Amino acid sequence: MRPLLSPTRIGGLALPNRLVVAPMTRVSATAEGQATERMARYYARFAEGGFGLVVTEGIYTDQAYAQGYAHQPGLSDRAQALAWRPVVQAIHAAGGRVFAQLMHAGALSQFNRFRGHTAGPSAVRPLGQQMALYRGEGLYPLPVAMSEAEIGEAIAGFRRAARLAVEVAGFDGVEVHGANGYLLDQFLTGHTNIRGDTWGGPIGQRVRLACEVVQGVRQELGNAVPIGVRISQGKVNDFTHRWPEAEGGAATVFSALAQSGADCLHVTEFEAWRPAFADADADASLVQLARRHAPSIALIANGGLHDPARAANALGDGADLVALGRGALANPDWPQRLRDGLAPRAFDPALLSPLGDLKAVEFETAGATG
Ligand SMILES: Cc1cc2nc3c(=O)[nH]c(=O)nc-3n(C[C@H](O)[C@H](O)[C@H](O)COP(=O)(O)O)c2cc1C
Repeated sequence: MRPLLSPTRIGGLALPNRLVVAPMTRVSATAEGQATERMARYYARFAEGGFGLVVTEGIYTDQAYAQGYAHQPGLSDRAQALAWRPVVQAIHAAGGRVFAQLMHAGALSQFNRFRGHTAGPSAVRPLGQQMALYRGEGLYPLPVAMSEAEIGEAIAGFRRAARLAVEVAGFDGVEVHGANGYLLDQFLTGHTNIRGDTWGGPIGQRVRLACEVVQGVRQELGNAVPIGVRISQGKVNDFTHRWPEAEGGAATVFSALAQSGADCLHVTEFEAWRPAFADADADASLVQLARRHAPSIALIANGGLHDPARAANALGDGADLVALGRGALANPDWPQRLRDGLAPRAFDPALLSPLGDLKAVEFETAGATG
């Protein structure tokens, strides 16, 4: 089995180990969506603690319908891109590498300073309630079904944000957020995408928007810059959703994304080692299915892998890298602790209460080992 601390690559980017900080929204940018010096210090801690790669929080891509949250950072113009530069530099100075996660919230938007209403694939109200940790309350609004022109605008937003990320901010790569219920996942999901055109229909057509975004970003960035794409079954507003097409659907999704030119597939489940589907192919996890149906792509596994044995097993299941979310918040030095034989600290959910914003305690514990 490949050890967690052994080197690997995503596309042309060499990484010193297989440990990745999972993307985590912390709603701590300015009201104008600009990253701050405090965010630079927050992110640098993960590089100092030995993570080979950091994926940022979801960053909104355009000034139409992409923004999801108040104080979410953006990459929708040059000023926002310039504000990321010190964050990227701080991570690089600490020896790390960083991908910008490009996110369009679609119908799950809880706040958007550019628009007074939300938009998604179809006029279907999202399940569940808005998230209080990101200043939301009550039901999600009913979205407007996006026109062909608005879909084109969303793709153009991903492309422009990717270019700003790499050329202005200096990011090492980008991750297209196709997971967790946001716009690209709304198109992938049958009950939120009831379109009658070629953006809807069977799963092979519903995955088209994610593929076109990846292809568009590839055209924008060329072959030298690594591009990842994140995929999940569960959603922030629908934790237990499963692809009704089961393994056949997984085969379609993973092979289409690999063919679209992504260097890296980031698969997230609540508990990554669990069987992906109740009724198909007995025990295969989504990680194993991704490896089976996209055999040569770099694969990141995420979800409940903060125990070192579980993380190592994910590599045994076919992942090349392991991403930690809550485990990284509790242990910005998780890789260093692994090297030193120290058990990781438990995550305290109070850290994200009452809001998910950055907390003073995260800066106090920098460098602590106890
Ligand atoms: C506070 C918080 C914010 C998150 N924000 C994002 C996000 O912006 N983009 C994303 O793809 N996932 C986001 N996630 C999901 C995590 O990336 C990860 O999938 C999840 O925490 C499960 O991994 P874990 O068990 O290692 O924590 C967030 C999770 C947390 C806890």
